[in-house]
Amino acid sequence: MNLGKLKIEIENYIISNSEELESFRIYFLGSKGLIKEQYGELKKISNDQKRSFGKQINEIRIIAEQKFSTAKISINTAKPENKEQVDFSMPGDQIEIGAHHPLSIIRKEIIELFSKIGFNISVGPEIEDDWHNFSALNFPKEHPARDMQDTFFIDKSKEEIALRTHTSSVQVRMMETNTPPIRTISPGRVYRNEAISARAHCFFHQVEGLYIDKGVSFADLKQTLFYFVKELFGEKIKIRFRPSYFPFTEPSAEVDISCSICSAKGCSVCKNTGWLEILGCGMVDPNVLDACGIDSEEFSGFAFGMGIERIAQLKYKVNDLRFYSENDVRFLEQFKSAL
Ligand code: PHE
Repeated sequence: MNLGKLKIEIENYIISNSEELESFRIYFLGSKGLIKEQYGELKKISNDQKRSFGKQINEIRIIAEQKFSTAKISINTAKPENKEQVDFSMPGDQIEIGAHHPLSIIRKEIIELFSKIGFNISVGPEIEDDWHNFSALNFPKEHPARDMQDTFFIDKSKEEIALRTHTSSVQVRMMETNTPPIRTISPGRVYRNEAISARAHCFFHQVEGLYIDKGVSFADLKQTLFYFVKELFGEKIKIRFRPSYFPFTEPSAEVDISCSICSAKGCSVCKNTGWLEILGCGMVDPNVLDACGIDSEEFSGFAFGMGIERIAQLKYKVNDLRFYSENDVRFLEQFKSAL
């Protein structure tokens, strides 16, 4: 076949679907196709014509190959011409559903439990001044109690602005701006300068609670915490109050629950005691009420505070605090069904 005609034939060939594409390939580019045939002709012609003939067939082959690949792309990406070509019985694409973070789940649960008994939610800044984090809470300057909470100071030279070490600072703000009755819980992130390990971290999350009114007593505190612990961990859980010390409460206590990991039989988490500390609490010191502008002769109140990593550890049996902030998907995925 004359090469000029072959070229025109290639150019005029209509390819509008995959069948035509395949016919094109076989007809021109296949092992028995016209182009191959022309390469066969090469042998027959005289040496002086070989070069230009060879060059021409190469060019034609390239034209055919380009036409083939362009047509292939447009056929493969073309939208189906009519609905029949879409198979609606095919399963849809799987959408990966994310999981709530375990701490968010616990925080939500705790907030819900306290909302049911009339507590509202208050939040405040993570960068605090000395007054709200310490002084108003009855930590005198230079008092060793400040060492209980290893503080990150923002400006080391002044020691006045720091990352809050507890959300009691929010309670101070609430007392300063509201009149009793005050019934509030303060969830939030807090910071302490501790080496990171399985049992300690330089930040964690708290929920602290405050109730101030006329005639609030330690019995009210106990009843509130009994309700909370039983709702969260179940009726069978045992609770005990141990005397303790906090500058802002008097008397103060720490609350232990029977170890939910070993059912109080003794394990490494409860250090074989069968008990686990979950929160600190007490009656708000009258000095704190007065510092915040509430008459301590007229009102009394209780406060409590807990780290929610600890609560999540007991509920979900997570034995290393670092998991909560490493964002390892294998860890987080396990909470998909928790809400
Ligand atoms: N603020 C205390 C802490 O962070 C917890 C606490 C709150 C203790 C309220 C007693 C009363 O450790």
